[in-house]
Amino acid sequence: MSQKTQFIKDLKELKDKDPISSPFLIKFSAVAVGKTGKPYMNIVFMDRTGELEGRLWDDVNQHMGQAVRGAYVAVEGRCQTYQGRRQIVVAKMQILREDQIEPKDYISESPVNPDELYAKLLDFISTIKDPFCKALAESVFQDDREIIDRYKRAPAAKTVHHAYRTGLLEHVVSITGILDLLAGHYGKCLNRDLLLLGGFFHDIGKLLELSYDRVTDYTTEGKLIGHLVMGVELLDRKIRELESQPGRLPGAFPEETKLLLKHIILSHHGQLDFGSPKRPKLLEALVIHMVDDLDSKMNAIRTFIEQDQTPGNWTALNRQYERFFYKPEWLLQE
Ligand SMILES: [Fe+2]
Ligand SMILES: [Fe+2]
Repeated sequence: MSQKTQFIKDLKELKDKDPISSPFLIKFSAVAVGKTGKPYMNIVFMDRTGELEGRLWDDVNQHMGQAVRGAYVAVEGRCQTYQGRRQIVVAKMQILREDQIEPKDYISESPVNPDELYAKLLDFISTIKDPFCKALAESVFQDDREIIDRYKRAPAAKTVHHAYRTGLLEHVVSITGILDLLAGHYGKCLNRDLLLLGGFFHDIGKLLELSYDRVTDYTTEGKLIGHLVMGVELLDRKIRELESQPGRLPGAFPEETKLLLKHIILSHHGQLDFGSPKRPKLLEALVIHMVDDLDSKMNAIRTFIEQDQTPGNWTALNRQYERFFYKPEWLLQE
């Protein structure tokens, strides 16, 4: 067993030339050519606490076929700061077998237990009134073992928000809680059943858009089709399955409910520029888009602030949001 002796979070406190010796998971690796024409490897190492870039200058040919994405490697090297960024200069790197490592040291997880989150999802489903909406939600989240199993593991994204194991379920339960509050707040003008179902289904295509056994990446279908259209396809298939099972529905699935659910999935990115083929044209769709946006930003910015190592009350520049964030005491203490 190759024990994890250093975590990436701790490496950020090292000084230049301090030694590094620990196993990591490779998130990305590529061969590049330096100014002198000499090839080198550009590697991103990760563990459950974060990720860090590395450079390997020697024996590139020997390593390039093996040190690929998803490989576990024992690394020895030194810390270096290059253009303001911390990296590992690798002196030695050895491939490890899966039985030589403890997988949970390498994959970051949701702070909330998957079974707890799943139980909350079932609680919400039990409060749905419309029999068609309820049967649809049950057929997916109670009866479909494959979907349930994937939902308990899937991250919500490769990098942007909730990018860790069970992140998608955490995100869905979080926004369903907010949607429930808003349904109470706005009363009659919002259909609570449709809102909840929109919350459950809006990102369901991500279960198939991403692969997440070790390192999260897009699947071929994910790259070619994307989670909005894949979500609509899945919804369509589940409704057809329900209709073919005698006694599951009190009648034919209402065409309007089906259309509105599809619209909610397709419009949840809000704008054509962000990959939605239609902008929200239904109050429920607008609310789901806004709550989805809020919840993903809350998670992305909170994670950024928590991982930021800059001394003082301000973070380093966040390139995605093009601003520095203030770090108040209460957030750091938590
Ligand atoms: Fe999405
Ligand atoms: Fe989402």
